[in-house]
Amino acid sequence: MVIHPPERIWWKPMSGQERLYIAAAVLFALITFALMPVWHFIGNQNPTMQTFRVEKAAYIDKVMAFANQYKVAEEAGVPVVAPPPGADVYVLARAFQWYPILKLKAGQTYKVHVSSSDVQHGLSLQPMNMNFMAIPGYEYILYLTPTQPGQYGIVCNEFCGLGHHLMSGKLIVE
Ligand code: CUA
Repeated sequence: MVIHPPERIWWKPMSGQERLYIAAAVLFALITFALMPVWHFIGNQNPTMQTFRVEKAAYIDKVMAFANQYKVAEEAGVPVVAPPPGADVYVLARAFQWYPILKLKAGQTYKVHVSSSDVQHGLSLQPMNMNFMAIPGYEYILYLTPTQPGQYGIVCNEFCGLGHHLMSGKLIVE
């Protein structure tokens, strides 16, 4: 019996099959990359949002003024806010809360502003599974027309800290 020493050269030129596999993977990655902007225009899931830079403190002021102006009730310390149809609506994401609770009318269009006062959060409207980012320093504007009356949950789908799993809010449509 002969004992061979281990092979010292671990790298060898790629075989034909391996080249084919890597070429297919790169091609697939490039196609899916190119599809991102394409889906924005021909898909029906991506809302075209307006985005503005905003100071965190200025955004908090806008949210508080909005909540005070249209507050109709309170749930566990969070105001329930019912803005008139067509109004500018402000939502604040902060660790670990969605503020305030919105009460909107079905069939009416609202201009919903979304931002964060601390870290990045993800606004996920359930059970519709509509997802938007809440990014500090940026104010996103969504045109939202609720169609079905009911209660919707808002969960955070970006890991934002220890209380991430507790960060749930509510949207009421009547
Ligand atoms: Cu906010 Cu996770």
